[in-house]
Amino acid sequence: MYTDEKLSEDGFEEGTPSSPLTLILFGATGDLAQRKLYSALYSLYLDGRLPSAFAVTGVARKALHRAEFQTLVQTSLERFSRHSVDTSESLTAFLEHFYYVSVDVKKAADFEHLRQFVVDLEANLSSPGNRMFYLAMAPEYFGPIALNLKSCGLTGTEGWKRLVIEKPFGTNLESAERLNSELRQGFQEEEIYRIDHYLGKEMVQNIEVLRFANSIFEPVWNNRSIANIQITSSETVGVEERSGYYDQAGAVRDMVQNHMLQMVMMIAMEPPSRLKTEAIRDEKVKVLRSLRRYQTSEIGDHVVLGQYEAGQVAGQEVPAYRDEPGVHPKSRTETFVAARLFIDNFRWAGVPFYIRTGKRLGVKATEIVIQFKDMPKHLYFNQDGNLLPNLLVIRVYPEEGIYIRLNAKRPGTDGTVVPVAMEFSQEPDDSPEAYERLFYDAIRGDSTFFTRWDEVALAWKFVDPIIDASQNGTDPNLFPYPSGSFGPEAATQLVAEDHFRWWPIYGQTAAPADTAGSASFWRTQGRVQG
Ligand code: BG6
Repeated sequence: MYTDEKLSEDGFEEGTPSSPLTLILFGATGDLAQRKLYSALYSLYLDGRLPSAFAVTGVARKALHRAEFQTLVQTSLERFSRHSVDTSESLTAFLEHFYYVSVDVKKAADFEHLRQFVVDLEANLSSPGNRMFYLAMAPEYFGPIALNLKSCGLTGTEGWKRLVIEKPFGTNLESAERLNSELRQGFQEEEIYRIDHYLGKEMVQNIEVLRFANSIFEPVWNNRSIANIQITSSETVGVEERSGYYDQAGAVRDMVQNHMLQMVMMIAMEPPSRLKTEAIRDEKVKVLRSLRRYQTSEIGDHVVLGQYEAGQVAGQEVPAYRDEPGVHPKSRTETFVAARLFIDNFRWAGVPFYIRTGKRLGVKATEIVIQFKDMPKHLYFNQDGNLLPNLLVIRVYPEEGIYIRLNAKRPGTDGTVVPVAMEFSQEPDDSPEAYERLFYDAIRGDSTFFTRWDEVALAWKFVDPIIDASQNGTDPNLFPYPSGSFGPEAATQLVAEDHFRWWPIYGQTAAPADTAGSASFWRTQGRVQG
């Protein structure tokens, strides 16, 4: 270990990492690497957030010369980097850190070759062998790669080793357990960094700061003051080119098992005993332990599944899900989910958490709305019962920000009360992308914003019965919805049953029937603080 590195109490490096790093990137010619990972590394490099001695060894099956691989990285940066890429010195210097080894992940001999390559590279870097293995590949390869890394000796190193993987972590609890035990043959739990890119989003990370760095929220953050919580992640895209994966997965596996439940955890967790990695993760996991699991017979009462029909999104005609290339013409895969969740603990008993997510909806937005309880009806200002409730809205995407909706007197003499918004919007600058933050954290060894195994397992325990019920037809709910809408009517009903309504999300201009009254909110919203 380098002696000048500063370790935090959690054992990760504080500030810019200084110890040499070898990143071994499997899937180096794939989509994720090209779209996200090279750009993230480049941004970190330009910001001076990578150790001065680092090497990236791209690994894929294709036979490529180093120069060809460097060109591929450069082309990816030109297409996807948030920084302008020219043939400047910094780009040339950056590309000098890239190497390439062709590996067939099923061939032990190829791993032996890779090991030798990495060891030689580390000798040049004077590195003790700090190795980060990033598997940007289909999950069926995770287990075999982990085993081969162990057998060829790459996991045996003087330095640290970390394995970074992307979801899906299995397709149900059983397969996730199998995968986990394969990974664990070569890596300890603390060495496995499971990426959920929602945890890298600025405003998702900001939830804990908002909650635990402001004294005004904690006293009202409970069932005495909060009426319901709504978490929406709505997308305009359809299944894109991913029908092979998506038609098997569906929205529950694709979005709920991970991203949506992660946001629920961040909102609902108890204050951690200390703001330390494991203390935070312990509190998050307790939320999943208290999350009510539904019996098969109850699922239809609390979960609405939908599938998009043809329609219009942003003025373009788009096909029905079943007519998308690669989708089975009778597919029952859900592209939309809305659900009512309950967290059965003292803080949240009785407060519904509504989640919804879907493809081909009217807008692309991710938002968390915390609706506070109504004022008592007989109070003067609410004598007609039409005072709108206070809302705290955390806008994850687009226009990251927070606003609080309050009621205030309209200037003048008629004493009318109108809703106003105190709003804080993050500067629309080019703030780091989720992958930059997550990469940086993984390099430093900070696993706070990565998913721990017990979170994965408990999330599957919650969603497995829903998926089973929908697959074996026990649950009849698969409601069609037109593309460009906000999901099936049944999702509106789900919330209306509790005498609530979905609040319009950012960019939802035409208030649909279920949000009657809210259009006036958007019109009266004033920017009190920018
Ligand atoms: C991914 C899902 O994890 O998240 C995709 O597999 C989805 O289907 C994406 O489109 C949404 O992410 P974001 O950051 O665009 O909200």
